[in-house]
Amino acid sequence: MRTGFHYRDGQLFADELPVASIVERVGTPLYIYSAGALREGHERLARAFAALDPLLCFAVKANANLAVLRLLADRGAGFDVVSGGELARALRAGAAPDRIVFAGVGKRDDEIAAALEAGILCFNVESVSELERIEALATARSVRARLALRVNPEVDPRTHAHIATGTRGAKFGLSRAAIARAAERCRASEALELVGLHAHIGSQIFEPAPYLDALERLLALWDALRADGHPLRLLNLGGGFGVRYGEGPPLDLEALARGYAERIGQRALRLVLEPGRSIAARAGLLVGRVLHVKRSGGRRVVVTDTGMHHLIRPALYGAYHTVWPVRADSPPESAGSAALEPADVVGPICESADVLARERPLPPLARGDLLACFEAGAYAATMASTYNGHPLPPELLVDGERLRCVRRRQRLEDLLALECDDEIALQPGPSAAAAAQARS
Ligand code: LLP
Repeated sequence: MRTGFHYRDGQLFADELPVASIVERVGTPLYIYSAGALREGHERLARAFAALDPLLCFAVKANANLAVLRLLADRGAGFDVVSGGELARALRAGAAPDRIVFAGVGKRDDEIAAALEAGILCFNVESVSELERIEALATARSVRARLALRVNPEVDPRTHAHIATGTRGAKFGLSRAAIARAAERCRASEALELVGLHAHIGSQIFEPAPYLDALERLLALWDALRADGHPLRLLNLGGGFGVRYGEGPPLDLEALARGYAERIGQRALRLVLEPGRSIAARAGLLVGRVLHVKRSGGRRVVVTDTGMHHLIRPALYGAYHTVWPVRADSPPESAGSAALEPADVVGPICESADVLARERPLPPLARGDLLACFEAGAYAATMASTYNGHPLPPELLVDGERLRCVRRRQRLEDLLALECDDEIALQPGPSAAAAAQARS
């Protein structure tokens, strides 16, 4: 049995099911996930880092569907969440609270409170101000909050500027000076327990070097804090492991794991990693249908019913995603051999950036043809919007020969359901009184 997305007898399969048959039942646009590919993604990372026995906390922002989270939770995965909404999803999916880490620069009080009440493994703290809020909320509940300080290691991960997070001046993490203050605050507090350090330097990283630079800086800090009496035990090195959407050598995970092991040496610690894309990207497909084919300035323009509202990565980062017909004589890898002509594959959105693939060699296409957009298992559905009034596509999960709908297609009435015309009477308070005084 084959897992994932592959061509057989001229058509695209998701595990054991023809994509065209799924579309016949469900319509377009739609996302399809492969359970087998998700399991493999998780397994590949677990294998590469096996010698370090890390806790793999899947980054929920990459794919937040409950069925996907449940599948990973069942395999023992932990979760990296960045909001109360993601925390609620992880818990709903059956995640063990003591395998959840909570990062993000803008945690609100209600989100911190929910995480304290759930008893998560730790907060990844991004500012001294946030640390003070966690302390106040933990004190009010008579609980102790476990914290890892997110360090800004100031390394250049050599990736797209939008997804680099550990550079000097970034909004993420704590500077060295702030780390020292935060650690002292933890020592002085009954409500705070400093348990570790965290760093996440960015996404789509293809070389071990920036990770190893960051690790060396973290370990220097680790040793200093330990020598200073802080009983650190969790070292969280984040995610960001690159996935090639086009050509190019993959990140050598085994080399990275060896580099980690050599540098960590005999230190007694629990390693935490936060992979998102490297588990989910290849396990997802976005399928759209060709609505119109036209010419513009000598270019072939293929208009589909999916676009930047369902996969914003090409528009936002200039990202490359493989786009290929669902019925095709040859698979995308053998693209060079077919009778191909360049095309721009675009969506229906009234934005010039709504282009999924630009000047891409593609076979002849006509209205009604199905197009698959690959590597759409991460940062596709989670970043989708209803811009221009388009309801969100459904999400399907294929497992071998079984097909399940794991999020139904949004309906127009869902889009309208929250709109209202409720009058709100404000209490006359100090600001209203001040405004009245200013008017008189
Ligand atoms: N941990 C933290 C603290 C993060 O901020 C992220 C991603 C991850 C882990 C997971 O990174 P991954 O292994 O998936 O690369 N929307 C962008 C990616 C933004 C990632 C933000 N943080 C994209 O589509 O490329």
